Amino acid sequence: MTAIEQSPQTKTPILKLEQVEVVYNKLATAITGVSVEVAAGGITAVLGTNGAGKTTTLKAVSGFLSSDNADITDGHILLDGDDITGMAPHQVARGGIALVPERDKVFDTLTVLDNLKASARVADGVEDAFDAFPRLRAVEQNLAGYLSGGEKQMLAMAMALSTGPSLLLVDELSLGLAPLIVTSLLQDLRRVQRARGISVLLVEQNALAALDVADYGYVIEDGRIVFDGTPEQLLEHGDIKEFYLGTNDAEAARRSYRDVRQYRRKRRWWG
Ligand SMILES: Nc1ncnc2c1ncn2[C@@H]1O[C@H](COP(=O)(O)OP(=O)(O)O)[C@@H](O)[C@H]1O
Ligand SMILES: [Mg+2]
Repeated sequence: MTAIEQSPQTKTPILKLEQVEVVYNKLATAITGVSVEVAAGGITAVLGTNGAGKTTTLKAVSGFLSSDNADITDGHILLDGDDITGMAPHQVARGGIALVPERDKVFDTLTVLDNLKASARVADGVEDAFDAFPRLRAVEQNLAGYLSGGEKQMLAMAMALSTGPSLLLVDELSLGLAPLIVTSLLQDLRRVQRARGISVLLVEQNALAALDVADYGYVIEDGRIVFDGTPEQLLEHGDIKEFYLGTNDAEAARRSYRDVRQYRRKRRWWG
């Protein structure tokens, strides 16, 4: 199945998805056979275009499928070796997993500080969150609804951190933000991840930006994992260049188009 032969991650996984299948409304299969390992103390990225199954994958882990009338119909999800398949969101959160969701990340009508107070589950949660994102202190009395897109995303990450998680699930940090802001947010995420020794599962359409900070990556297409590898291996892959990279970079796009043309004459991975 994977074109790149390589054992997944060498480090011990904190999270393991084994052949997970999710079905919406009892009939629409959104992901199937999805196996992903998240190494402890690193950033693992799942890359894919719109509709590929990224959000579904994160919802399967975080327990938010039932509100969408979806079920895990096959496979297992293991957290530190414990089976958490199908657990409710509060149980998953208690296990140390926090989600930065794709939408409705913050309470727009509350101040930054009150958002953090609402989310904090540990005693030093609010202070920890400000330490991780000092920029938020300057706007702590502002209503979250008036923050810039980048600040809102920062607040969403800070809220997730304020729960004292060991594993952070991040759904499309880049959505609707300018490339420079995305780069800066991902660097922040990397800094926080390293400083706290937490693990991150990041799903992204913007593969180039994500691979810049990830230790390992998977590519999901039509609900199936089609490749996995280190960022170097993924960046080398002709089809990945064609489909996922260079979208924000004209030069990279031109380069990859040429590479893909040459690559295609040799081989088609889906053939
Ligand atoms: N609430 C839902 N009800 C029915 N189908 C859904 C729902 N959410 C997502 N899907 C379907 O599941 C598939 C994967 O979607 P999603 O996980 O949101 O992809 P991504 O996050 O990669 O854009 C898509 O075909 C999408 O139409
Ligand atoms: Mg999504």
